[in-house]
Amino acid sequence: MITAGSSHDQVVVLGTAAAFGHYCSSSINSTSVGASDLVPDGYLWQFSSPDTSSPTLLLGQNERGTLYGAFAYILELAQGNDPIKSASNTTTIASGATRHVSNPAAPVWWVNQWDNLDGSIERGYGGRSLFFAGGKVVADLRRAAAYARILASVGINAVVVNNVNADAALVHTPANIEGLGRIADAFRPFGVRIGVSLNFAAPQSVGGLQTYDPLDASVVAFWDDVTAQLYKRIPDLAGFLVKGDSEGQPGPRKYGRSLAAGANLFARALRKHSSAAADSPGILMYRAFVYDQLQESNWKADRANAAVSYFAPLDGQFDDNVVVQVKYGPIDFQVREPASPLFGHLQKTNAAIELQVTQEYLGQQCHLVYLPPLWRTVLDFDMGKTSGKASLVRDIVTGTHFSRPLGGSAGVVNAGTSDTWLGSHMSQANLYAYGRMAWDPSGGDDDNDAATPRHIIEAWTRLTFGGSPAVVDTIADMALASWPAYENYTGNLGMQTLTDILYTHFGPNPASQDGNGWGQWTRADKNGMGMDRTVRNGTGFAGQYVGAEVAARFESVDTTPQDLLLWFHHVPYTQPLPGPRPGENTTVIQHIYDAHYAGAETAASFVTRWAALNARNALNVDAERYASIARKLAFQAGHALVWRDAVCAFFDGLSGIADRHGRVGHHPWRIEAEAMTLHGYTRQAVSPAIAASGGQAIVATGRGQASASAPIPPSIPPGVYTLAVNYFDLAGGRASYEAQISGKTVGNWTGSAEDVFGKATSTHLDGHSAMRVSFAGVVVAAGDTVTVLGTPDGAEQAPLDYVSFLPDGVVD
Ligand SMILES: *[C@@H]1O[C@H](CO)[C@@H](O)[C@H](O)[C@H]1NC(C)=O
Ligand SMILES: *[C@@H]1O[C@H](CO)[C@@H](O)[C@H](O)[C@H]1NC(C)=O
Ligand SMILES: *[C@@H]1O[C@H](CO)[C@@H](O)[C@H](O)[C@H]1NC(C)=O
Ligand SMILES: *[C@@H]1O[C@H](CO)[C@@H](O)[C@H](O)[C@H]1NC(C)=O
Ligand SMILES: *[C@@H]1O[C@H](CO)[C@@H](O)[C@H](O)[C@H]1NC(C)=O
Ligand SMILES: *[C@@H]1O[C@H](CO)[C@@H](O)[C@H](O)[C@H]1NC(C)=O
Repeated sequence: MITAGSSHDQVVVLGTAAAFGHYCSSSINSTSVGASDLVPDGYLWQFSSPDTSSPTLLLGQNERGTLYGAFAYILELAQGNDPIKSASNTTTIASGATRHVSNPAAPVWWVNQWDNLDGSIERGYGGRSLFFAGGKVVADLRRAAAYARILASVGINAVVVNNVNADAALVHTPANIEGLGRIADAFRPFGVRIGVSLNFAAPQSVGGLQTYDPLDASVVAFWDDVTAQLYKRIPDLAGFLVKGDSEGQPGPRKYGRSLAAGANLFARALRKHSSAAADSPGILMYRAFVYDQLQESNWKADRANAAVSYFAPLDGQFDDNVVVQVKYGPIDFQVREPASPLFGHLQKTNAAIELQVTQEYLGQQCHLVYLPPLWRTVLDFDMGKTSGKASLVRDIVTGTHFSRPLGGSAGVVNAGTSDTWLGSHMSQANLYAYGRMAWDPSGGDDDNDAATPRHIIEAWTRLTFGGSPAVVDTIADMALASWPAYENYTGNLGMQTLTDILYTHFGPNPASQDGNGWGQWTRADKNGMGMDRTVRNGTGFAGQYVGAEVAARFESVDTTPQDLLLWFHHVPYTQPLPGPRPGENTTVIQHIYDAHYAGAETAASFVTRWAALNARNALNVDAERYASIARKLAFQAGHALVWRDAVCAFFDGLSGIADRHGRVGHHPWRIEAEAMTLHGYTRQAVSPAIAASGGQAIVATGRGQASASAPIPPSIPPGVYTLAVNYFDLAGGRASYEAQISGKTVGNWTGSAEDVFGKATSTHLDGHSAMRVSFAGVVVAAGDTVTVLGTPDGAEQAPLDYVSFLPDGVVD
């Protein structure tokens, strides 16, 4: 008996439709409960009409569907909703009962984990691997099982447990295969199957063969054997994931074989093991992320062209249990990319969209960036007319548009041992949303309001923090502003994220985007910027869209959406743009300045919005999570300024065109550390220079306490300020600091970000390590002096950039 929170108490009957038909056939059978409407893993809820006393039915097409139906029902109750009222896609049947049917949109809605056998996680910001340590599967898999429960609760049906940059040893030893079996055993009660990433060269590197040619009989036998061993231990294996011929990974091209031949090798090995336990043949997910190193000096060279040029000619050559896994954009999880044109070319090939839940380029869980609005831009993108109708990416990947048997999505999650799984409480919203959107990517249509990004974050907030409207509104408003804000203060107008692509992908380093062999270029020079991807004069990428009208739209500066302008076109900084309000015009360079200032202001507003929430009612969010989120938001606000200042200084220097509003390089409330009186500190250039205010910082010269002081200038009149201190927090040391006003301590802190934030660390003074600490309510009197004392620790020489006395409301 479950009290459903509705007008009347209800008895709920839970089971598979078949079991219900079997045990309850006298009263009702599985046909009449609508089981024929269900696809594998789907479920229905059936509510009797109020005047009958029949139980509420929660029936799954299979056991997994039953579990999903039960979780979905519980998640409604937990939000205080009456399931019958919140259910979408309902019909009224003959008996007067209301039936809600929910089917997954596609067979594949998987998670990828980039876990390494040594326990590290590539691009993971939530601790160590849940599965591996020291080259083996860990003994205690209880936390892995808890992860499976989380995934099941949002409807995920399989997890690839190891990195796509795969270690061949994982499937080579009996101990490791047994370990994978134990992971599968831990996941099975939650209906989550496991898949494994394979290393293409394993036949040679661990198998002792001379070759890994996919057409060689001994190689085929090697993979058949590995696959057989895996199925012996894991009869419900979901399949394999393979990254070949990319970023140094081995692949079939070494032997002149096609990528399709490479994929089919594994697909055929899997096909030999269709078993009842697996309920469908194992699936081979083959990544489309294949590209060559390029020379930037060639104006027509473009990594974005690679996926279509490799895969489009192979359409139709992949076996039916192959799914080509395509990153949402043609480059690499940038803050803004057009949808990959490859989706339009895979008409006789199964396709899945690859999304990143882990925030590799998007703030590494230390910046609040709620991703569903970004994902929607891609899922809702129309590739143009194919087969006579619009081709939305979401309809292509679910297989409906081109009538493919398989398809779906893969989300790179990289959850770890952190208490918050992903490294921050707020980032969990992205995992929840991924599950919801993978099950139902249709989102946001009038008839399915519950799938809009706003509804998803509201539901997540109620489930996570309870139903206080103040909390729900605050979190939803911040979340929805967060991606546009991040885009603004990192890389606006489609220029990409501008992070350091040669190092940790975290902080700003726009110069690194050009002059490298990785092909993530912006072609910024003194006159202008942007990749010329036109057919007319550039790389030709715009012409890769199958819909002629789509290609034509991107071919012209005038019809390219402003947020993709610099993605498709190389334009002068003086290129006119429509301004923020009708009748106002701006330019590319001014838009860069304005967006960066606006984005940093938005990030600063998160801190005050969050604080206001707690001020209104101290019990809105428990103290621990409140403080943890406050700490992250404060970090983000500080780091958004590092971004803003670095990017604005970079383009100011490059273009020589000043900000119309005189903000760039003008910081009236700052005192640069290098301008202070130093004892035990010395000046040091920062690289890139734009990562430091004024291009310089100071570092302690010895092991003891060092100090930097300065009289507070008359331009900072007596009053009450927030004192902000910008410093650098490096890996390999935890320096301690103290800020004083005329000898009186106003704040203490430690450079221990590596213990707190989970992001990639840096060993240099740069845009990754630059950060800020703030102390409110600091009183300044006439004649006061500011002093910062720094005590080095390990490799961290207590580096300082500047102090800033901020009047109320000033963001700088
Ligand atoms: C199930 O119900 C349908 C429609 O109500 C009926 O036609 C069918 O004979 C029933 N099947 C069984 C096995 O009772
Ligand atoms: C909506 O319900 C119908 C049956 O009434 C079912 O065929 C369809 O798959 C359902 N749609 C979704 C998105 O679950
Ligand atoms: C065409 O491409 C060349 C480089 O090959 C470039 O220098 C030039 O600016 C481009 N012209 C236009 C009109 O975009
Ligand atoms: C603003 O820009 C648009 C488009 O470039 C142009 O048509 C219009 O004349 C401009 N208006 C002003 C006032 O410069
Ligand atoms: C982003 O920048 C634009 C351009 O300055 C501005 O109009 C918009 O409000 C900003 N949005 C956010 C969320 O910061
Ligand atoms: C800062 O640290 C010093 C020395 O440990 C201590 O005396 C002082 O009270 C601390 N001040 C604050 C504001 O925490």
